[in-house]
Amino acid sequence: MLDLSAAQPDVLVLVGTQTGNSEVVADAIAERLGDLGFAVHLLDMAEAWPEALAEHPQAIAVTCTWSDGTFPDNAVDFAEALDAVRPDLSGVRFGVCGLGDRDYDPYYQTAAVRLVDLFRECGATEAAPLHDIDGGPTPSDVAGAVGWAVECARAFADA
Ligand SMILES: Cc1cc2nc3c(=O)[nH]c(=O)nc-3n(C[C@H](O)[C@H](O)[C@H](O)COP(=O)(O)O)c2cc1C
Repeated sequence: MLDLSAAQPDVLVLVGTQTGNSEVVADAIAERLGDLGFAVHLLDMAEAWPEALAEHPQAIAVTCTWSDGTFPDNAVDFAEALDAVRPDLSGVRFGVCGLGDRDYDPYYQTAAVRLVDLFRECGATEAAPLHDIDGGPTPSDVAGAVGWAVECARAFADA
């Protein structure tokens, strides 16, 4: 069992999705982190704002890439606002899980990669490298993402 004694209980789980796959992955991650004892705040990126990130020192974002390398519709405004506002996220640890499809090369995962860059440029620290899902997501992809999120949680607890 993960020792959460050193961890902050709060985790923000942000979801960027066009057709719901990222939501399936985010829901599974949220459920597992909840089972581990975290207080999980699941937030559609359409409802998110840049300053909210600074209020949650631990964040996991799950987003697909859509339409030749862009963010899904519900995440476009959030990504643009993050780029414009650039809040100080130096106290934030984060992980990004990207859904995409290599058939869309050269735009494979470009939104997820951009989101990692934006978090970093605002001073946040990656808890684990970008976790990418190519196609699917199959049950095994979802399980892999949940395992990756637990690694993020371990990094949250160890910090
Ligand atoms: C019209 C369309 C455009 C897509 N564009 C990209 C893309 O540019 N890059 C990429 O990596 N994946 C792309 N994909 C794959 C999606 O990211 C993938 O299907 C993902 O699972 C969708 O997640 P969502 O259900 O959360 O929206 C595209 C899929 C469709 C149907």
